[in-house]
Amino acid sequence: MIVLGIESSCDETAAAIVEDGRILHSNIVATSMDLHAAYGGVVPEIAARSHIEAIMPVVNQALTEAKMTWDAIDAIAVTYGAGLGGSLLVGVLSARTLAITKNKPLYAINHVEGHVYANFITKTALPGYVLPTKQPVFPILALIVSGGHSQLALFRNHFDYTLLGQTQDDAIGEAFDKVAKIIGLPYPGGPSVSKKALEGDAHAYAFPKAKLAGKYDFSFSGLKTAVLRTAQAAVGADFTLPSHELPARLSEAQKADIAASFEHLAIETVVDKTMLAFEEFEPKSVVIAGGVAASSELRQQLSERLPIPVAYTDFKLCTDNGAMIATLGCFKAMHGQFTADPYTLDIAPNLSM
Ligand code: KG4
Ligand code: ZN
Repeated sequence: MIVLGIESSCDETAAAIVEDGRILHSNIVATSMDLHAAYGGVVPEIAARSHIEAIMPVVNQALTEAKMTWDAIDAIAVTYGAGLGGSLLVGVLSARTLAITKNKPLYAINHVEGHVYANFITKTALPGYVLPTKQPVFPILALIVSGGHSQLALFRNHFDYTLLGQTQDDAIGEAFDKVAKIIGLPYPGGPSVSKKALEGDAHAYAFPKAKLAGKYDFSFSGLKTAVLRTAQAAVGADFTLPSHELPARLSEAQKADIAASFEHLAIETVVDKTMLAFEEFEPKSVVIAGGVAASSELRQQLSERLPIPVAYTDFKLCTDNGAMIATLGCFKAMHGQFTADPYTLDIAPNLSM
């Protein structure tokens, strides 16, 4: 079963080819991130326009990299939600058109479920990938942490999962992005906060950990505000100081200490919940997914606290990509799941798990 996966839910235009939900044949990602950097976040209209320009070159490159023609492709899988409406439309309409013109079955994929399936890729002839040697085993506890999502889910089997908890406000990646802005680090905030944190003291500032009614729910908006107030106090100002004046007034050491203290606490928050769920559900595997899964701090805290080893996938498969979409598409096809109608498949920007 060879599936071409298409992903365009945010600012990455991506296509990839995966065989049997295991073997990665190609993985092409074009990002419009540079175009958004000046604005400190993704501008939906710019993202949608970039997808239109990139989508067909990216799909063709995925075929070329895999040394395949359309004849080799058994099915197409595409992200139909959640995500930005204009961005999703480009991927879905392209996939629908290709499914009709190339006469291939079409599978509609939930982006967040897709992130989890990046962990099923264990083989590739492509250079530069560090992959787990074994696929995860059910029941799987999945921590999904990205710029748009913070979720904890228990997968009993393929297509049989329970959402244990999720963020009640901001996603953890979004908090990284906002903290980066407060202390004047470049977008995207995750990698730049992580890098700055290496020079700082994780215990310099005591930020509050949110207490929520839901045992497995998260909240990051209070933490984000605490970082802002701490930064204002650190320069001797009160809450009336506009945040855009902070980067120039904070010293490099203060920025590093704020980055380290924030990163440590934000990651500890999601690791605490993962540990609680691990104890309650006794999963055979634990996987992490989404852009924040690239965080070395997350990987370190998890491996220190979990009694079983966590197999991490390659950084390139943590952030948005087509390979995760193709992989879930393979499993849908191999398990006889419903195909989507290429004439009517609609986007679902607010799709939940
Ligand atoms: O999964 P993704 O590419 O897009 C969404 O579906 O949201 O995740 C992007 C998010 C951004 O918020 C980025 O700041 C964060 O992942 N991120 C990180 C790291 N690398 C990317 N966060 C923390 N540490 C990192 N090393
Ligand atoms: Zn994502």
